[in-house]
Amino acid sequence: MSGFEYASAPESKAIANIASSYGLFINGKFVEPKKGKSFTTINPATEELLSKIAYADKLDIDLAVKSARTAFTKVWSKMPAKERGKYLYRIARIMQERAREFAVVETLDNGKPIRESRDTDIPLAAAHFFYHAGWADKLEYAGVGSKPKPVGVVGQIIPWNFPLLMLAWKIAPALAAGNTVVLKPAETTPLTALLFAQVCQQAGLPDGVVNIVTGDGITGAALVNHPDINKIAFTGSTEVGKAIARSISATKKSATLELGGKAANLVFDDAAIDEAVEGIVNGIFFNQGHVCCAGSRLLLQENIADEVLEKLKKRMSLIRVGDPMDKNTDLGAINSKEQLNRIHEISNTGDTEGANRWSPECKLPSKGFWYPPTIFTGVSQSHRIAREEIFGPVLSVLTFRTPAEGIEKANNTMYGLSAGIWSDKGSKVLWAAKQLKAGVIWSNTFNKFDPASPFGGYKESGWGREGGRHGLAGYLTSDAKAAK
Ligand code: NAI
Ligand code: MG
Repeated sequence: MSGFEYASAPESKAIANIASSYGLFINGKFVEPKKGKSFTTINPATEELLSKIAYADKLDIDLAVKSARTAFTKVWSKMPAKERGKYLYRIARIMQERAREFAVVETLDNGKPIRESRDTDIPLAAAHFFYHAGWADKLEYAGVGSKPKPVGVVGQIIPWNFPLLMLAWKIAPALAAGNTVVLKPAETTPLTALLFAQVCQQAGLPDGVVNIVTGDGITGAALVNHPDINKIAFTGSTEVGKAIARSISATKKSATLELGGKAANLVFDDAAIDEAVEGIVNGIFFNQGHVCCAGSRLLLQENIADEVLEKLKKRMSLIRVGDPMDKNTDLGAINSKEQLNRIHEISNTGDTEGANRWSPECKLPSKGFWYPPTIFTGVSQSHRIAREEIFGPVLSVLTFRTPAEGIEKANNTMYGLSAGIWSDKGSKVLWAAKQLKAGVIWSNTFNKFDPASPFGGYKESGWGREGGRHGLAGYLTSDAKAAK
């Protein structure tokens, strides 16, 4: 049978009002960086220039921290909690009203399919503000004593894989708890954070409560090392997370670190295979596999491995790769040239170390950064592709004979962020979940997120939790330790 073609269904760019350049958002205003330096952000699907972005250095970070400190002591920590909550509700509602604009800008800047930014990133980001708005006047129930206090000024550094959503994970709980923030978005995806700065203005948020400083790792390090920061909240690579932990070790700064992962997605022989195949695809190909909790190690019980692989390959042949602005697209562009090179580098070791590569036939666009959906079979635990985070649409498949062996292999990793279990038997799911060393475990589903549910890892996947009461507690301190 010859396949039928989908007509293209592009989302319009008209709603995205991207300025040709952006300043830094400090003390409620967009200002030029002191040294006048800038960098550019592009659309990774086309390599087109989107905007010129201000580059913040130490002097700008200092201004941003000062503005956050003044807003903290004079306004935000003094404001009745109920009033703080109202601002968060207002921000959440504006994000919903401007959802389409946010989705289009996110997809242009990041390369992810519009279907995902529209249906996942933006609604979840708004949901985080709604959820935490409700907490603002109920902090005594967060589990840190009857009179919890904010920690003070928080430096927040986020990655490029879920730009607005990671901003929401960071800013919503910090503000609900009464802190003020200086946030640095990733250098390849600053645009939705700058749009969010406009939302703060629109909501009438007091000046200095949220400051957005754009730049690279050097900018991030300047924020981490600023002496007047009380806490660092970071999401990104384990390598940078470790560097941050080292730099704050001799200070009073606290930290939440959300780092890498190499999640096992375990399929037992009693699983509903068709559903499991959907879960495998969602687990590794959602957001081009640029997901810290991606199900990047598939562990199949040996007696069903052939059947699962056959169905998985058939399903993968239906994945539509291409224009992220097309509403039919499943797999968009890789976020940057650097990330594409990293995916090539680690994946190529799969070939040289003896695993077997398979990808469906698919035409990749000539411009932009692309990688086809890929699986490796015949992977052993010592292979680099079984140990390292590839952070791309590449799945490593291993097998196990007994459930106990499956658990042992699943836990044989330096990470411990998430895991998936596919089984028809509730008792087996509970048995497996109890033994898996992972912060988040999904059963018969994958990549489900909710603002009320804490998220975080074991081992080298990080410190602390984000989301829910546990995440909120990380932005609070009991009376005695409160920031002055
Ligand atoms: P990265 O960890 O370098 O970047 C994340 C954020 O940290 C960015 O905002 C960056 O500007 C900032 N940053 C970089 N160096 C810093 C420093 N010394 N001090 C303070 N902030 C700093 O991640 P990158 O280079 O974009 O990606 C490299 C690999 O990291 C990926 O291939 C992937 O494996 C992993 N990664 C994991 C993420 C996760 O959510 N777990 C997110 C992004 C990357
Ligand atoms: Mg970009």
